[in-house]
Amino acid sequence: MNYNILISDPLSEDGIYPLRQADGFDITIETNMTPEQLGERIGDFDALLVRSQTQVTRAIIEKAKHLKIIGRAGVGVDNIDLEAATEHGIIVVNAPDGNTNSAAEHTMAMLMSMARKIPQAYYALRNHNWDRKSFVGVELKNKTLGVIGLGRIGAEVAARAKGQRMNVIAYDPFLTPEKADKMGVDFGSVEDVVRAADFITVHTPLLKETRHLINAKAFDMMKPGVQIVNCARGGIIDENALYDAIKAGKVAGAALDVFEQEPMVDFRLLDLPEVVATPHLGASTIEAQEIVAVDVSNDVIRYFTEGTVRNS
Ligand code: NAD
Ligand code: MLT
Repeated sequence: MNYNILISDPLSEDGIYPLRQADGFDITIETNMTPEQLGERIGDFDALLVRSQTQVTRAIIEKAKHLKIIGRAGVGVDNIDLEAATEHGIIVVNAPDGNTNSAAEHTMAMLMSMARKIPQAYYALRNHNWDRKSFVGVELKNKTLGVIGLGRIGAEVAARAKGQRMNVIAYDPFLTPEKADKMGVDFGSVEDVVRAADFITVHTPLLKETRHLINAKAFDMMKPGVQIVNCARGGIIDENALYDAIKAGKVAGAALDVFEQEPMVDFRLLDLPEVVATPHLGASTIEAQEIVAVDVSNDVIRYFTEGTVRNS
């Protein structure tokens, strides 16, 4: 008997090669389905592979009569109803390491683009406007970067920021003084970090506790002229509060890869000249996409052939 695998977001073709090569798997690739279409199709499948676009809601899971395993080709599993999956005995695996480097590199690219206003200057030049006055930036050297969430990506960003001669202060509930010392970073509470930082970058998962962690109260505590990066998840920063803080002149720059609603529908923030943005591209490299798809493909194979998963 063959197992039916549905891939409902674009995944690297090289990354799903292990599944194509293994015996006993029929692969269907059907992307851009509406929730209704996915609900109608999901009952035919034993495994579902997704990135961040497909919303695997309770309603979908309740229709997934044969589904045994969901593979998330990436880190964040906030697009999957884990409680519903568990109730229905469906295993959820992700690829926790595969895109760490790409996400850290994207964060640094966004930080530097924002500090030096590179997208804005490029846009002016594209419009044949040679303007050297409007795009005066600030240096990173000797500035303090506040890192909220010092996990895999946050730690890589902290190491790169130190390479830029920045001071780093971090908050993470699992950060110990010994670990901070070893990494050469200062540590404190979220309040300490937002008060001390010239630049802030968030690298937590989106959880109940981290939704709007950076809110109007946090913006009030920040230094005037602070610049902020979000390459983790839309919703960690309260977008309305960010908009107000930029309009009030408190925040001098924001670099956003992720948004409260994706695909984005509210473009208000992007109308502000202080904001640089990408459409959730943190993990969009050839290398990362291949690794994360290989990781979840191998776990699907392992699950159906050996009854185990590695989730790595
Ligand atoms: P990770 O699990 O290694 O690190 C997350 C860290 O956040 C952990 O150390 C955890 O202790 C910390 N944390 C949890 N709750 C916190 C809180 N309330 N305050 C401060 N810290 C808290 O995960 P990671 O691989 O570093 O990924 C981090 C985030 O980046 C995830 O949300 C992930 O989905 C997102 N991400 C985005 C992209 C992208 O394309 N933009 C790519 C990869 C990952
Ligand atoms: C992730 O959580 O891994 C990122 O959102 C990257 C992605 O899969 O788009």
